[in-house]
Formats: sequence, C-alpha cells, structure tokens
Amino acid sequence: MLGLSPTPLTSLIRRASPNTALSHFQSQFLHFKPQPFSSTTTAKMASDLNWTKKTFTLNTGAKIPAVGLGTWQSSPGQVREAVKAALQQGYRHIDTALAYGNEKEVGDGIRDSGVPREEIWVTTKLDNTWHHIVEEGITSSLKSLGLDYVDLYLMHWPSSTDPKDLKKHLPDWDFLKTWQEMQKLPASGRVKNIGVSNFAIKNLETLLNDPSCKIVPAVNQIELHPNCPSPKLIDYCKQKGIHCTAYSCMGSTGSPLYQNETLLKLAADKGKSVQVVLLKWGLQRGTSVIPKSVTPKRIEANFQLDGWELTAEEIEKISSMPERFKVCGDAWLPVRVFFGDDE
Ligand SMILES: NC(=O)c1ccc[n+]([C@@H]2O[C@H](COP(=O)([O-])OP(=O)(O)OC[C@H]3O[C@@H](n4cnc5c(N)ncnc54)[C@H](OP(=O)(O)O)[C@@H]3O)[C@@H](O)[C@H]2O)c1
Repeated sequence: MLGLSPTPLTSLIRRASPNTALSHFQSQFLHFKPQPFSSTTTAKMASDLNWTKKTFTLNTGAKIPAVGLGTWQSSPGQVREAVKAALQQGYRHIDTALAYGNEKEVGDGIRDSGVPREEIWVTTKLDNTWHHIVEEGITSSLKSLGLDYVDLYLMHWPSSTDPKDLKKHLPDWDFLKTWQEMQKLPASGRVKNIGVSNFAIKNLETLLNDPSCKIVPAVNQIELHPNCPSPKLIDYCKQKGIHCTAYSCMGSTGSPLYQNETLLKLAADKGKSVQVVLLKWGLQRGTSVIPKSVTPKRIEANFQLDGWELTAEEIEKISSMPERFKVCGDAWLPVRVFFGDDE
C-alpha cells in the first residue's frame, strides 16, 4: 500500500541549536501599552473570550474552527474514542491525514459522536507518494472516512515522493503539478477548501508566482510552538491571505515544553496548565491550533480555553524563549523543504 503507514516520529525529530535573536513577532509585543477598559470594551471582551467557539475566516469565506483535535500517532485502536470524546466535548474540528493510517476510525468516531456532519470541520491530507494521483488520493480518503466531502484538503508536504523508492523524488512531477490537480477539486464539491502544509516562504513564492496557480491556498499548516515560532512565515502568509494552522502546537510527543521552567511558572501563576497556556499563545497569535490527545481527560482539559487570555507581557515572555527545536524536520524526504527562512 502506498504511504499508509504513519511516519515514525524518530525519523522526523530534529532538535536545533538555540537562537537568541529577538524575532519580529516578539518585537511587536514590546511596544504594547495596555488600554483602560470602558464598560463596552469589557462586554465585547467577554464574548471575545469564548475561544472554543471562535473561528477564523479563510480567503474562501469559509470559517475554520480555531481549536481542533490532532490525530497523528493516534492509533486506530484509540482514535475512534478520542474523536467521539472530543466532538461530544464541543470540539468542531478534526485533523487527520491519509499518512496517519487512521481515517477510517476517525470517520467512525465522527459518526459515533452523534454531532451532525455539517457542524464539523474535517481536514485531511494528500500523502507525498500520491502527488501524481490526486484524484485517487481524495477518493481513497473520502472512502476511508466514510464522508461525502472534506472541509479542507491539504498537500501534506511539498515533496512528490516516488512511491517505489521513498528516497527519490518523482523525476517528472513537482508540487506545482500537484497543486494544478488539487485546484480541480473544489468544483467537485468533494473538497470545500484546498491548502498546503509544511510550505516555507521559498516554496510559497514558487507556488504563488507560477502562472498555473489560480487558487491561493486557504491554509498553510505548519509546526508552531514557542521553540519554533516562525514569525516571518506567519507574516508572509498573512500578507498573502493564507491562514496558518499550528501543528505540534504543544511540542508533540514527549514535549520538552511541558518541563520548561518559564512556562511552568507562568502557568502556575495563572492557575492554568502548561498545555492550555501553549494553546492560548497560538490562538492569540491568530493561528488555529490542533492539539492531539487520545486521553479523554486531556482532551477535556485542553479545551479549557474560555474566559481567560494571556496578557501582552505573558505573550512576550513566551515569545522570548530562546531555545529552538523542530519536531518535524525534512531529513526523511528526498528534497529539502525547510530553508531557515521562517524567522
Ligand atoms: N501537517 C503536518 O505535517 C503535521 C505534522 C505533525 C502534526 N500534525 C497535526 O498536528 C497535530 C498536533 O501535533 P502533535 O500530535 O505533533 O503534538 P501536540 O498536539 O503538540 O502534542 C501531543 C502530545 O501531547 C500529549 N498531551 C496532550 N494533551 C496533554 C495534556 N493535557 N497533558 C499532558 N500531555 C498531553 C499527547 O499525549 P496523549 O495522546 O497520550 O494524551 C501527545 O503525546 C497532530 O496530531 C496532527 O493532526 C500535522
């Protein structure tokens, strides 16, 4: 079978050396001056603090729920219950991928939840070894999910990998051709929005400047957490009207962020968990977040996002953390996709 097994985490993890440069994003907050609240601002803010119901409007006009459930490394034996628990808890956005090998169980979890399909945002992704057969890719995903359509279909990586040899790039294909095929999908009604994932500025420039690009990606799903903040990439996407979704938004499996002293102290002072502080940091930067858990108690805990926010000073403190690491590197791919141009 082509690309159906999840990529082993160990092959993706790359810890980078610290970089103490003050990012553009961090510097935005240095000049923040708190304003006194009037009663109308207070009333407005109360509804603004309803983060679990918040959506971001994409360049297509569609509204993507700000908080979703991630399912990478959620095994078929666990993910059905996790998706059901999340939807019953109030999550309205589920993120999966053909490469995760769990689309069937994700679909089962959606049906088990009893939540109407039209209330749920489902994202899935085209696998690298399926770039030259996009139609087959989406047909396979919809069949596995047991759905008529997905809300968002992403090109998982800008790498058209040879299915016969994962170390090789297809000689006669590239992500521009893949995008040409993906652009045909919204007209079919089986895909509501199309986007990309793991696109650095360099590859976005290549895509957007090519005459064959008729649809600007609605979303770029990228790794984002305080040790991989990518402010330049976020700014670039914003300028181009591309919404960013933050993956590995809590630092992924075995996250070192859960033991980070700065975060532990800040979370304790606020009476919150480190996990929700990380999620709120992502949300307040204007990115959607897709925390993964297969543990019902954690799925519930990660959704405790309403009624509070981080102050500008707290955001600045988190944004100023100097350590850098990437969960998902590109060493396992036949082409480079990260160029250090994200901050
Ligand atoms: N587009 C891409 O290339 C790409 C790459 C990576 C990820 N993603 C997407 O982004 C999603 C999120 O990223 P991720 O899975 O890498 O990592 P993550 O959401 O940052 O972290 C998940 C890890 O944190 C644990 N966890 C969750 N809530 C917790 C809590 N309250 N307390 C303690 N531990 C907690 C989970 O354990 P348990 O599950 O055991 O509870 C799991 O080990 C993925 O699932 C996937 O949907 C996309």
